Amino acid sequence: MFYPTYRPRRLRQNEKMRSLVRETELSVNDLIYPLFAMWGHNVANDVLAMPGVRQLSVDNIAAEAEEVAKLGIPAVILFGLPETKDEVASSAYAENGIVQQAIRAIKREVPELLIVTDVCLCEYMSHGHCGVIRGEEILNDVTLELLAKTAVSHAEAGADIIAPSDMMDGRVAAIRSALDENSFINTPIMAYSAKYASYFYGPFREAAESPPAFGDRRSYQMDPANAVEALREVNLDIEEGADIIMVKPALSYLDIIAAVHSEVDYPLAAYNVSGEYSMVKAAAAKGWIDEKNVAMEILTSIKRAGADIILTYHAKDAAGWIKEEKSRV
Ligand code: PBG
Repeated sequence: MFYPTYRPRRLRQNEKMRSLVRETELSVNDLIYPLFAMWGHNVANDVLAMPGVRQLSVDNIAAEAEEVAKLGIPAVILFGLPETKDEVASSAYAENGIVQQAIRAIKREVPELLIVTDVCLCEYMSHGHCGVIRGEEILNDVTLELLAKTAVSHAEAGADIIAPSDMMDGRVAAIRSALDENSFINTPIMAYSAKYASYFYGPFREAAESPPAFGDRRSYQMDPANAVEALREVNLDIEEGADIIMVKPALSYLDIIAAVHSEVDYPLAAYNVSGEYSMVKAAAAKGWIDEKNVAMEILTSIKRAGADIILTYHAKDAAGWIKEEKSRV
């Protein structure tokens, strides 16, 4: 069945015809918007490398969360910038820690919005690494206890989903059993399972003020050259009790998203990370690309690759764009 019997252009004649056969549709229901909770009062600092993203103090964060909810976005993911950092990340699991306060503030004002919390220690460690150190070594098993404590304290404050992003071995099992022991049997874990040691996180480190003071994260995050290993990481997290799997970053890792999607029957999230966002913003600011169309193409490609959920700094804009597109057809 080839030309002229089959003419693929028949189904591309107009927008109605195209939308009838469209395979992938971006929905606002799939988006998660990242928020940065900052210590202090009345703070709303622009993150220079990520136009549109701000560090917000607890008194300002509920208003932002409300705006997100009004756009129909179902969830936010919270990151914290604490006032003090030390070598055991005490502020990560303090009852009145910055994320714990932000959770309570958002839940008070916007109870219907789902709150995902990023569980990691780098933002709370004086040295900026995701685990406890001895010399320049990042220790695995002692770190698990602190991660588990952090996860429980987020759940106690009201977090709906716990998202460990540290890449220590065994963290999902440690967090699952700590949550269960504390009666949070119904709190899901969204595991950053295949998280790569990526230079695309550059702008995030300005937003979260969490760059490592020495070395890099390559002894715990994955080597960008590896794909088979991603499936191993994903399978481990599933065995340990993960409910949702994540691949991160997204754009340079669409092959990983597709591979995980075809191998595993668990909900799959992809993190469209800071550097991916900043590239679009920078090129658009120069007038070199069209921001809306490029961002929508990127988000659609992440979905097409197999992601069910997309964490993205474009979420608020995308919510508006999706609505616009719907009303046009
Ligand atoms: C914390 C964490 C990072 C990101 C999410 N959680 C930074 C890192 O691992 O260095 C990156 C998010 C982004 O770039 O948008 N470990």
